[in-house]
Amino acid sequence: MTDQNRMTIIGPGVMAEAIIIGMIKKKIIKAENILAAGPNSDRLHELEIKYRIQSQQDNAKAIQNANVIILSVKPQKLPAVMRELHGKLPQDALVISIVAGATIESLTTGMDHPCVVRAMPNTPAQVGEGMTVWTKSQQTKAAHQELAQRILAALGREIFVEEETYIDMATAVSGTGPAYVFLFLEAMIDSGVHLGLPRRIAEEMVMQTIKGSIAFYNQNDSHPARLRNQVTSPGGTSATAIYYLEKMGFRTAISRAIWAAFTRSQELGKGQKHQDPENI
Ligand SMILES: NC(=O)c1ccc[n+]([C@@H]2O[C@H](COP(=O)([O-])OP(=O)(O)OC[C@H]3O[C@@H](n4cnc5c(N)ncnc54)[C@H](OP(=O)(O)O)[C@@H]3O)[C@@H](O)[C@H]2O)c1
Repeated sequence: MTDQNRMTIIGPGVMAEAIIIGMIKKKIIKAENILAAGPNSDRLHELEIKYRIQSQQDNAKAIQNANVIILSVKPQKLPAVMRELHGKLPQDALVISIVAGATIESLTTGMDHPCVVRAMPNTPAQVGEGMTVWTKSQQTKAAHQELAQRILAALGREIFVEEETYIDMATAVSGTGPAYVFLFLEAMIDSGVHLGLPRRIAEEMVMQTIKGSIAFYNQNDSHPARLRNQVTSPGGTSATAIYYLEKMGFRTAISRAIWAAFTRSQELGKGQKHQDPENI
């Protein structure tokens, strides 16, 4: 079964590369059975050389022999790509879209194809530590669902959900999540440098603190607030720092940011322009 699968990835960018790595590393699909499609010949050549896959600049030609088609273009490019593919997909092909905001309804009608999985991965998929939340069209058969599950599991953890709105929520929480985490890391490192620490030492301190805190949380199976209380002595440094974070609206800022990302995901799905998050 595995050896027979032929995957075409339309939109050979950052996420496409993460998927290619996952497929090859976890031996889900052979490199020679993976084909990347997009307009940029330099990028296609780069992927061909790096992973020994195939490539094709014409999207409609690229899908002709595929039984798995991944849509990995930016949301703004999707309508044009769907027009190119409309009615041309092999009848029994599984389409997996990772395009932010693109709904099952818009995908199935846009391509005139019933078997569609909508997934939201994130960039740690590049190292097999991704978080992917996914759902499927009603017409997706059990065999296709099982294939989609194996493909997405190669990127890290995956969660299947029945509710499609959870995908927009996942876009805001886990899909966009690495951006919040990296901003937080950067802010902590820069604060250490501001205090006078050499950057290399500040980086090591912050990275190990994050890694250690997650390992501690995983082992304790406890609410984060309980673990935070353990570091917070009366009148101590943590209590003082937390007072400032709360005063500056730390929790609300995160909540507002995630809500804004959720709204943006829904706007992208409707092809709408960006609204000022201040008015959300
Ligand atoms: N990055 C993330 O963290 C993340 C996480 C989850 C989901 N997603 C979703 O994944 C999708 C891809 O994101 P990305 O970050 O990988 O973007 P990206 O790096 O910009 O990749 C998009 C690729 O599509 C190519 N492309 C442009 N027009 C095309 C066309 N007509 N046909 C085929 N390919 C075309 C682009 O080529 P050029 O560069 O030459 O234009 C680029 O190689 C997006 O829909 C995004 O919402 C991203």
